[in-house]
Amino acid sequence: MTPAANFSDWIDRLPKWRGWLQLSPARPYMHTEENYNSQYGLTAPEPEEGQGLCNLLQTHGVDTTGPALEIGCGTGYLTYGLARHYPGPDFLITDPSPAFLRLTQNQFDQSAGFAARRHYAVLNADDLGDLPAGMFSVIALRSTLHHILKVEEFIAACARSLRPGGALVMGAEPCESGYLLMASVAQSIPNALKAAGIEMRPAWTARLDDFTATVKFCCLRDIEKATAEDKHFFSPHQLSGMGAAHGLQLTFFPTASFRDFAPPYIHSFHCFSHFFLIYLQYCMSFPEDFMALIRVHLKDQLKFIDECHRSHAGPDITGVFLLKKTP
Ligand SMILES: C[S@@+](CC[C@H](N)C(=O)[O-])C[C@H]1O[C@@H](n2cnc3c(N)ncnc32)[C@H](O)[C@@H]1O
Repeated sequence: MTPAANFSDWIDRLPKWRGWLQLSPARPYMHTEENYNSQYGLTAPEPEEGQGLCNLLQTHGVDTTGPALEIGCGTGYLTYGLARHYPGPDFLITDPSPAFLRLTQNQFDQSAGFAARRHYAVLNADDLGDLPAGMFSVIALRSTLHHILKVEEFIAACARSLRPGGALVMGAEPCESGYLLMASVAQSIPNALKAAGIEMRPAWTARLDDFTATVKFCCLRDIEKATAEDKHFFSPHQLSGMGAAHGLQLTFFPTASFRDFAPPYIHSFHCFSHFFLIYLQYCMSFPEDFMALIRVHLKDQLKFIDECHRSHAGPDITGVFLLKKTP
């Protein structure tokens, strides 16, 4: 039996729910799914993310002859380009949230120009042990690993369900050292403003405390995280060790995004200060009047960090993790 037939047989036997395959009970996201794109300023599908991922698979000799699986598709930021460029026969698109699955499915208003057959499933990554062994060539995630409770169990389950020569590929995951640096810089904001004769407002303090508490929560590895949406930060050596323990070899691309591997091949990470300021404004909702003061009074400190990385990638705030299953 060919691997593609195996996949078809497997999905034919799965239970269905609201027209999707069901591998897990549905679980909504902790924030309103319909507001997700506007928070990040997304208006239309961006095929470069998936195209870059497919180029990366090709340049690293990853087997793409079998099905691909995406975990945590969200609104389909990676999905659309992956569906358009993945050369394998099948693409299983998943999320635990029905609202996200629907938003992603709605991106595909026509089916021309897509080589792989698309399938949709409700899947919580904590249930990955139910996937058949050696089924997938590629398992792809974008900004999703940090939501998954048991990271090492997840990596072990991916390794098991990958084919030899296949890969687990993860982008836009938060790296511990970079986030810790951002939080440390952020903690110096009150003193920098005080030195300039500016008093912190309660609303600013609340946003700052929220940011630093979030960073601390995600860094800690000795607390219960089951009920939190954002759970973890990672380090390349931690994921390298976990991968190696399960037959996956890590290549890490610091500060890279999937789209960097697609035309026009531009590194989309500008520098630490740019990422830091955008992150506080859009991801942590710092108000504009506070941001204006941070830009002025933290300028020298941010410039120092940028200078230290003027000719090489870093600090590691995020990046692409490619974990290839040794054939
Ligand atoms: C930050 S969003 C990223 C969405 C999308 N991949 C993107 O890049 O825009 C995180 C996604 O992970 C999903 N997610 C959260 N917990 C998960 C879990 N345990 N298993 C699988 N997906 C999960 C969420 O529903 C959401 O779609």
